[in-house]
Amino acid sequence: MVNSAAIVATGIGKTFAMGKQTVTALRDVSLSLPAGTLTALTGPSGSGKSTLLHLIAGLERVDSGNLNVLGHQVHACGPAELAALRLREIGFVHQDFSLLADLTLAENVRLPLEAVGTPRGEAAKAATEAMARVGLKGLEGRFPAEVSGGQQQRAAIARAIVGDRTLVLADEPTGSLDSKTGSEIMDVLAQLRDEGVTVVLSTHNPANLSHADLVAVLHDGALLSFDTAGGDAA
Ligand SMILES: Nc1ncnc2c1ncn2[C@@H]1O[C@H](COP(=O)(O)OP(=O)(O)O)[C@@H](O)[C@H]1O
Ligand SMILES: [Mg+2]
Repeated sequence: MVNSAAIVATGIGKTFAMGKQTVTALRDVSLSLPAGTLTALTGPSGSGKSTLLHLIAGLERVDSGNLNVLGHQVHACGPAELAALRLREIGFVHQDFSLLADLTLAENVRLPLEAVGTPRGEAAKAATEAMARVGLKGLEGRFPAEVSGGQQQRAAIARAIVGDRTLVLADEPTGSLDSKTGSEIMDVLAQLRDEGVTVVLSTHNPANLSHADLVAVLHDGALLSFDTAGGDAA
């Protein structure tokens, strides 16, 4: 555990307005995730897993507490700094892959680079490299509908790491997959962790926890436990 922290949350909270009601999605959550580790967020539906990932991704802002992501104080930084962090340094993987159907896998993978103005040749090279890292060499020209669900999810992971992004957030990345394919996707994420990528994912599937270095259990927006996967103190 000599790695520096990629993410440090200190007493973070998030509420949402629902008409006149407020829903507390996260309450007083504190945790520190070392760079180059794979953390699984688990807990029942509605426990705050997606909200925590969205806060780390800069898609939502915390209401209270301090949140540092890759050295950025995201609770305090302005919209431009937050957008740059989200666009240039963080990759997000959704349960349903969310690839654009009219683009090839390689075109999908290079989208985040095109969004920040990376020259086309450089973006294409980076997309090819990212696809090779997740086992998709040779499938660059295929469309999403022409590959399996597991291959689509690999492409979504390639899009999340393209351009040497070092933080990958994945919301239920195996939720749409059969158990064998889901296990292969966990292997891909664990391999990226071995290469130094920091991975934070949410999962309902207990089988996925065996791939994690750290397991955070959420319940009703509160952190119930935060431990190494084997149960030793982190
Ligand atoms: N945009 C939103 N508007 C209102 N309530 C929300 C919103 N996002 C999440 N919530 C609420 O916050 C709580 C946590 O949700 P979520 O983070 O999606 O949990 P999980 O991913 O663990 O299922 C739930 O009660 C949910 O209804
Ligand atoms: Mg969720």
